[in-house]
Amino acid sequence: TWSAVPAGPPDPILGITEAFKADKDPRKINLGVGAYRDENGKPYVLNAVKKAESLLTATSPDKEYLPITGLPEFTKHAAKLAYGADSVPLKEGAIAVTQSISGTGALRIGGAFLARHYPHSKIIYLPVPTWGNHIPIFKDSGLEVRGYRYFDKKSVGLDFEGLKEDLNNAPEGAIVLLHACAHNPTGVDPTHAQWAEISDVIASKKLFPFFDMAYQGFASGSTTHDAFAVRHFVKHGHQIALAQSFAKNMGLYGERVGLFSLTTKDAEEKKRVDSQLKIVIRPMYSNPPLHGALLANAILGNEELYQEWEGEVKGMAERIISMRERLYGLLTNELKTPGEWGHIKSQIGMFSFTGMKPEQCKALAEKAHVYLTMDGRISMAGLNGSNVEYFAASVDAAVK
Ligand code: LMR
Repeated sequence: TWSAVPAGPPDPILGITEAFKADKDPRKINLGVGAYRDENGKPYVLNAVKKAESLLTATSPDKEYLPITGLPEFTKHAAKLAYGADSVPLKEGAIAVTQSISGTGALRIGGAFLARHYPHSKIIYLPVPTWGNHIPIFKDSGLEVRGYRYFDKKSVGLDFEGLKEDLNNAPEGAIVLLHACAHNPTGVDPTHAQWAEISDVIASKKLFPFFDMAYQGFASGSTTHDAFAVRHFVKHGHQIALAQSFAKNMGLYGERVGLFSLTTKDAEEKKRVDSQLKIVIRPMYSNPPLHGALLANAILGNEELYQEWEGEVKGMAERIISMRERLYGLLTNELKTPGEWGHIKSQIGMFSFTGMKPEQCKALAEKAHVYLTMDGRISMAGLNGSNVEYFAASVDAAVK
């Protein structure tokens, strides 16, 4: 029956984890997948999450189904976190929010909803490059995927002129995917002034902004600062779509906790949109998982746990920033590795886009047991005091 099914390639990101697991060398380092590791290279369960677990256990919650759009209290808290307590559509009850199977699930619901109900276009523009999974997510949702310029290889920064030109040339009404903060894979974000200009271009071309906010708090250490773009767009009259994830900022990777939301005209329109979100979701997976939503809700709804969580997000962001400094210092001052490495310090969030070529990435895996994605992206969170020197020396050998 399946004789004509061709073998597919491994996933460009999760396939790296498989290769890493199969490597038996004790020096091995996994800088492929974006998952936070502590100073000892171990997965990190946040204290706020541990405390939320204890609180939950004490109440011995049941295991009933959640509603199709998830835990109402949680979706309310999470929308407030993203849009801000003073958000006008939030206060007016005009944001349709649903829980989702983390960020990917949110994007998938959004893609499916837009393919079915967005009246102006079936085209979505993604930054070049973007997170690899964005492309199949939106294609599988039934949208036509196109690219807009984002990264300038020469300056190792934002190609702002190219970005504006491409958005200006997009057909009226097209959808534009924007990384709200900590752009994956480049680590290059627009400045606040550039966001304001992007917002103006999108308004003048009547494009539809769809934000992917997978790293709120993780980029700068402040959930408010990282929500700047989303809140700026809403304040300036855009209706937006938003995907949120609690994988990174709460370390709830495997619990699959996320949200999809749409700002609407008013509470009545929101009600209609809500009803159609349910119709999109029910045949996909019926309703979302319970446990992670209860945990995230316990944190967002409890002042003490919330404070502790914000402190821990800041701590994770700061450890990554300190690794950026250390790696830059090793490559530039100690090893005098050929090339310009300033971008390692200036890039934002979990990743650094090193500029290493696929053959160099391959050599790092084969010779040094260091795993990264073939586009030269490294997860800074995989580096720590014990492995950063070995990593820098391996990079030095790979590029010489
Ligand atoms: C990544 O880019 O490494 C993360 O977003 C994890 C994933 O699912 O790819």
